Amino acid sequence: MMNLKMLPLLLCLVAVVSCEEAGQFKEGKTLAGKQVSKETLNLGQTTYMEYCVQCHGKNGDGLGVSSAGMWPPPRNFKLGIYKFGNVVSGELPHDEDFYRIIRKGLNGTPMLPWDISDKRLDAVTQYIKTFAPEAWEGEDKKPGTKYELPADPFGEARKAEAIEKGKRAYNITASCIQCHRGYETKADMSAWNKEINKVPLKSEEFAADLYQLKMQDSDYGYHTMPPDFTYHKVRVSHTTEDIVQRLMYGVNGSGMPGWKDVVTDEELWAIAYYVQSLKDLRNNPAREELMNKIEKQ
Ligand code: HEC
Ligand code: HEC
Repeated sequence: MMNLKMLPLLLCLVAVVSCEEAGQFKEGKTLAGKQVSKETLNLGQTTYMEYCVQCHGKNGDGLGVSSAGMWPPPRNFKLGIYKFGNVVSGELPHDEDFYRIIRKGLNGTPMLPWDISDKRLDAVTQYIKTFAPEAWEGEDKKPGTKYELPADPFGEARKAEAIEKGKRAYNITASCIQCHRGYETKADMSAWNKEINKVPLKSEEFAADLYQLKMQDSDYGYHTMPPDFTYHKVRVSHTTEDIVQRLMYGVNGSGMPGWKDVVTDEELWAIAYYVQSLKDLRNNPAREELMNKIEKQ
């Protein structure tokens, strides 16, 4: 039988053991100017080991046991760069960006939406930052610049007009076809060039890979693929408004640049309406009609 006098000692031992098990962090950290407690970091680590480690890896390097052959590869958190923050390209995402990405997942990838408590969501967000101390720790580190979403100048009533403007901006003014594929006939593109630049396009001015995806070099150590909007799933650009957000900021480190102040706010919305209309062709017989029209020209 246990002597009652031993109870406090026993409790103490249990406390020490569970304290050891609770995690590696013995003190808090300041991450991009925000004080994060050791309890939060330790909860973040437990959450990570439960839900994220199999893909993102014990050391955060993206080389978890399930990552082999996965495309796109799980993010390597040691790089301290992230694709889908709503911040100026190259700057650090805000916590709300991580919450959104983790809660909604990245559509079309193995990164699913995670339904975890707000407390764990915040904790795991703070924890993954600790894999990249050079990016997050230091007096000068702060979350990046956000733009205000410009008001939609079209609205549902003028959607058709927006799409027509979007076609011109996508193909001629912004030339998204440098990386993404084209979806319009050469005759139409030539006519739009005449409208905008006063001269039609000569046949030798069309790139040989106009109707192909052009793989890009990235900062992540692999080639990134500009999606075919009529075929692939896009990661975070669900609504027209989401597309405007993505266009403003680009996809950091992937090759996809930001377009805020490169094209006008009206053009941003026009392009977004056009891209949304292309997305609507996914799994739709109208896609085949479009592809036939391009093939037959
Ligand atoms: C089944 C594999 C898998 C699991 C499990 C997983 N992820 Fe991911 N995650 C990915 C992949 C793949 C990507 C890269 C997608 C891309 O580049 O488009 C990614 C990307 C990310 C990104 C980068 C977002 C950006 O903007 O660059 C974050 C943050 C992230 N995951 C957090 C988490 C967290 C937190 C968990 C656990 C709650 C988790 N992931 C679990 C596969 C996974
Ligand atoms: C220099 C090459 C390049 C140019 C120019 C470019 N993109 Fe991209 N774009 C990419 C790449 C690469 C990706 C895939 C990023 C990833 O997921 O890794 C992408 C992804 C996207 C996505 C998907 C975002 C998501 O949620 O997954 C949209 C929408 C998009 N681009 C629209 C455009 C539009 C519209 C233009 C012209 C205004 C444009 N892009 C110009 C390279 C480019």
